[in-house]
Amino acid sequence: MATLADPQPDFATLPQMAADVFTAPLARPAHVGEDWLEPRQTDYTAADHAVWDDLFARQMEILPGRACSAFLAGLEKLDLGRGGVPDFGKLSEELGQLTGWSVVPVPMLIPDHVFFWHLANRRFPAGNFIRTRETFDYIEEPDVFHDVFGHVPMLTDPTYADYMQEYGRAGWKAMRYNRLKALGALYWYTVEFGLILENGTDLRAYGAGILSGPTEARFAVEAESPNRIMLNVDRVMRTDYVISDLQPTYFVIESFADLYRQTVERDFDRLYRSLPAGFTYANSAVIDVDNVLHRGTQEYHLRGGRGSGAKPV
Ligand SMILES: [Fe+2]
Repeated sequence: MATLADPQPDFATLPQMAADVFTAPLARPAHVGEDWLEPRQTDYTAADHAVWDDLFARQMEILPGRACSAFLAGLEKLDLGRGGVPDFGKLSEELGQLTGWSVVPVPMLIPDHVFFWHLANRRFPAGNFIRTRETFDYIEEPDVFHDVFGHVPMLTDPTYADYMQEYGRAGWKAMRYNRLKALGALYWYTVEFGLILENGTDLRAYGAGILSGPTEARFAVEAESPNRIMLNVDRVMRTDYVISDLQPTYFVIESFADLYRQTVERDFDRLYRSLPAGFTYANSAVIDVDNVLHRGTQEYHLRGGRGSGAKPV
């Protein structure tokens, strides 16, 4: 059996974790196997499908002019607005023809090494459940709307699709060096909250955390409050992040080829050896090496952030 130190180059079978690698203790539900895949997608009620439709309609009011063109094209290609929560089987067939990715149902949280293994095999693990009317505006746990609406359209872009697979492969290395937190920050500031400067001038969102919520698309792209800084991988991997509020800082890429170049085409062994175990920079910091597009006022966070009544935009 392959070990963490020695996964097969093709990641065909799930490598076993070495005993000295820390992973969050998650109890595996009895009905899922070692791959943590649900046997089938949930049967959604009519009310669940209506929640999807309403969330979809709301985002489509906000996203034109704020979401990147690859995302909007992906929504069209996959016809995610055809009505109701998409069927993962059909979606996987269509996505498979475009970039070879599929979407697979998993319980809410799965272990890091299993998540990485699915990505390395071009399978995107998506949560089954959908939020309720009571949690319509904000949920902390990602649901099927966040996972499918937010993430899956981007997987129709060939370069981005390759980046996601390489991210999964890179996860194993990060665990070996005990630098999962640093790799997690890279995921956070790219896959979840990344911005892109299209045509060198138009700031747009490609991060799923921005694209799947009602407030952050405006905040990330237009507000005076947050910093917007060109992506620098060494710097991002040393930067703390906030999970329960809007981001004080967003990192911006020039293109997906630029993202791929900065990450996949570099020597992460060297980088991990030089990274401290914890974060060095606060999530609102601007430091001397930064290529700053916009230095934020941080007004939203200085006023107390979420729950304080501070207006995001
Ligand atoms: Fe996400």
